[in-house]
Amino acid sequence: MKALLCTEYGPLDKLTVGELPSPTPGPGQVVIDVKASSLNFPDALMVQGLYQVKPPLPFSPGAELAGIVKEVGEGVTSVAPGDRVIAFPGFGGFAEECLVAADKVMPLPAGMDFDPGAAFVLTYCTSLHGLQDCGRLKSGETLLVLGAAGGVGLAAVEIGKALGARVIAAASSDDKLALCRQVGADATINYATEDLRKRALELTEGKGADVVYDPVGGAHTEAALRATAWGGRLLVVGFAAGEIPKIPLNLALLKERSLVGVYWGDSVKHDPRGHERNLRQLVDWFGAGIIKPVVSERVPLAQAPAALARLTGRQVKGKVVVLPEA
Ligand SMILES: NC(=O)c1ccc[n+]([C@@H]2O[C@H](COP(=O)([O-])OP(=O)(O)OC[C@H]3O[C@@H](n4cnc5c(N)ncnc54)[C@H](OP(=O)(O)O)[C@@H]3O)[C@@H](O)[C@H]2O)c1
Repeated sequence: MKALLCTEYGPLDKLTVGELPSPTPGPGQVVIDVKASSLNFPDALMVQGLYQVKPPLPFSPGAELAGIVKEVGEGVTSVAPGDRVIAFPGFGGFAEECLVAADKVMPLPAGMDFDPGAAFVLTYCTSLHGLQDCGRLKSGETLLVLGAAGGVGLAAVEIGKALGARVIAAASSDDKLALCRQVGADATINYATEDLRKRALELTEGKGADVVYDPVGGAHTEAALRATAWGGRLLVVGFAAGEIPKIPLNLALLKERSLVGVYWGDSVKHDPRGHERNLRQLVDWFGAGIIKPVVSERVPLAQAPAALARLTGRQVKGKVVVLPEA
């Protein structure tokens, strides 16, 4: 089978397409015939050796995918060959076949194609867990989303609306902000041309946002924290800008603000029931047409490294899907 291979941690252009033997499932494992997988920022960090998870070399990146179960190992009863599924193995998805633990496989929801299926779990689960479990976002509150046209950002815009919040989307271009409006943002800030803090305060009549969803980091974090309301919560989701901000703690004291970390992957281990509840909620929202993954590009395996470079170069909107059999 064909697979995108990382043979040494390093630049994205070191990734190559190679041939590997088809995997065989061990006890509790499933082999999936991959129909689509999607790019996530952590894929780019992982192949460069910059992510908290460092798979043994060689490995294929690709955290999430959708496809058809090819074979199941001993003891697997939750799925059977022929089932249409979504899987979130963490890595291994940019390949024609992927070996996954059965507890990381779920049925493809009714009415969902493989492309959106591959772009569903990681971004939406991160954003729902962040906003609901960590941020305690309530109906009627104001949510400010940074990097709002990116993978987790766009999901946060949709989920913020689904939870009844007023959503302010912030991103670096008018093009990206137009997409945010299309998926439901009530107001927008172009932080490449506008002062983020000033504009967020103007848009909230001086009160500030109740919750900030921050997958970007860098200089935007402090500006956004300064634009939060009394009791505001800033969700630390990621550092796509490449810089981990250092925040003066008096900003927390002054308005009883909280900085809350969000780590979806590990939260699933700590609260598997909560994760299942969130997944059910997301599947229901998808069925009701309330959320819908925005797939902006579809690329074959060989073009995945260039697409990852566009992702880290801020040139991608929504989600890019890799089609291993194309
Ligand atoms: N905590 C968790 O559980 C969890 C789960 C998934 C992902 N994450 C993290 O969340 C972040 C976003 O992931 P994603 O998959 O949504 O990525 P993405 O689709 O690339 O979105 C990231 C956004 O960050 C903004 N950005 C600002 N400066 C950037 C820079 N120098 N390089 C690249 N992007 C920059 C871009 O928007 P503008 O151009 O509009 O600024 C971009 O749309 C990553 O740091 C990822 O590791 C965390």
